Amino acid sequence: MPLVLRTLLFGFVTLLVVVLIIDDIAEVEEETANSRHSKKMNLQRLIPKPHRKAAAHVDPTSLARLSTTRNHQHPSYNNSARHSPNSWTFNKTLSNLIRKNILRFFDPERDISILKGTLKPGDIIHYVFDRHSTTNISENLYRLLPTVSPMKNQHHRRCAIVGNSGILLNSSCGHEIDSHDFIIRCNLAPVEEYSRDVGWQTNLVTMNPSVVQRAFQDLVSEEWRARFLRRLQSLSGSVLWIPAFMAKGGEERVEWALRLILLHTVDVRTAFPSLRLLHAVRGYWLTNNVHIKRPTTGLLMYTMATRFCEEIHLYGFWPFPLDPQGKPVKYHYYDALKYEYTSSSSPHTMPLEFRTLSALHRQGALRLHTGQCDMERRQQNELQSK
Ligand SMILES: *[C@@H]1O[C@H](CO)[C@@H](O)[C@H](O)[C@H]1NC(C)=O
Ligand SMILES: *[C@@H]1O[C@H](CO)[C@@H](O)[C@H](O)[C@H]1NC(C)=O
Ligand SMILES: *[C@@H]1O[C@H](CO)[C@@H](O)[C@H](O)[C@H]1NC(C)=O
Ligand SMILES: *[C@@H]1O[C@H](CO)[C@@H](O)[C@H](O)[C@H]1NC(C)=O
Repeated sequence: MPLVLRTLLFGFVTLLVVVLIIDDIAEVEEETANSRHSKKMNLQRLIPKPHRKAAAHVDPTSLARLSTTRNHQHPSYNNSARHSPNSWTFNKTLSNLIRKNILRFFDPERDISILKGTLKPGDIIHYVFDRHSTTNISENLYRLLPTVSPMKNQHHRRCAIVGNSGILLNSSCGHEIDSHDFIIRCNLAPVEEYSRDVGWQTNLVTMNPSVVQRAFQDLVSEEWRARFLRRLQSLSGSVLWIPAFMAKGGEERVEWALRLILLHTVDVRTAFPSLRLLHAVRGYWLTNNVHIKRPTTGLLMYTMATRFCEEIHLYGFWPFPLDPQGKPVKYHYYDALKYEYTSSSSPHTMPLEFRTLSALHRQGALRLHTGQCDMERRQQNELQSK
C-alpha cells in the first residue's frame, strides 16, 4: 500500500514538473507573439529604468522613418556611434540587471547546446524556422553532442565578441582583442591573414551550415576539404557552435563537417544550440521593445555572453556601408559579400540591432569598439600625460 502511494506521489510530481516546463515554453512563445500588443505592460514589468530609456531610443516607428529617409550613402552613424573612448565606464549594476532579466527567458549555460542524454540517433527534429520540415539525428551528430554544457561554470571577467564587419580592416585591434579572457568569433571567419586587425585567439566560434558552402566551396575538392580541416584544427580546443536545426537545407553540410571532425579527431568541443534558444532570445528583445525579426549571430552571442562574462566588448559590429568619416566599409572583412540587410527579404534587422547595442554602450552595459585601437590607446596616453 505505501508503495502504491509513493508511486502515485511520484507520478503526480512528474506531471507537475512537465506541466510547469510546458507552461514555461508556452509563455516565451506567447510573449514572442504578443509583445507587440502588450508592449507597455511588458516594459513596466521587465525593464529597469535606464533600460526603458534605451527602449524608447530604439522605438521602431522612428527607426522606420529613419530607414526610409536614409539611403546607402548616408548611414545615420551620427546619433548611433558617438563612441568616445574616454567617456565609457562599465556599469556593473546594469550589467547584472540585464543578466538577471535574460535568465528569466532562458539559461544560456543550458541552451547553448543540446546534450547527449536528451536525444538518440534517429530522433526526428523539426527545424526552428521551418516547422514542417524535419531532420534526423545522425550517428555522427549524436557522437558529437556534449554530455555537459561546454560553458558549465564558466565565468570570465572580460570577454570579446568579434563581429565580421569590414570596419575591422586597418583597425590594429588584434592585440587588444586577444587580450580578453574569453573570445567569441562568428561564422568561422578567417583570422590568420587578418590577425593584426582581428587577433587570432578563439574560445568559441560559430558555424552556420551555409558557411561550408560560401566560404569553403561546399568542400567540392580535396583542396577545399583540406582548407576546411585546417581551419577546424586551428581551433584547438575551442567550442565550435553549430546551429544545425534552425533552417532546413544545411543538413548535408553539417554532416560533412561532423564526419571530418570525427575522422581526423579534430580537437574542438562541438555544441548544437537548443531548439528554444532563438525564440527565447527573440522573446527577450521583443519584451524590451526591440522588434528584431531574427537575431543575428552577433546579437545571439551577446545575449548569451551576459551569462558568462562580466564586461563584454564588441568589435567588428558595424552594419553600415560607410564609416564615421564617410569611407566605404566592406560588409565582411574577409570576403566580397554585399550589404543585403536593407532588403525586406533579409531576415535580419541589423541597423536596429546596432542602435540597441549603441544604447547599451552609452549606458555602460557593454562596450562597442568601432574605431582604431592604436588611436584609442594614444588618446588615453595623452589624457594621462596631461
Ligand atoms: C553630427 O552632428 C553634429 C552636431 O550634432 C554635426 O556638427 C556633425 O557635422 C554631424 N556629423 C555627421 C557626419 O553628420
Ligand atoms: C548603473 O546602472 C544602474 C541600474 O540601471 C543605475 O541605477 C545607475 O545609475 C547606473 N550608474 C551609473 C554610474 O550610470
Ligand atoms: C530518418 O528517419 C526515417 C524514419 O526512421 C528514415 O525513414 C529515414 O531514412 C531517415 N533519414 C535519414 C537521412 O537518416
Ligand atoms: C588599409 O591600409 C592600406 C595601407 O595604408 C590601404 O591600402 C587600404 O586601402 C586600407 N584598407 C581599408 C579598408 O581602409
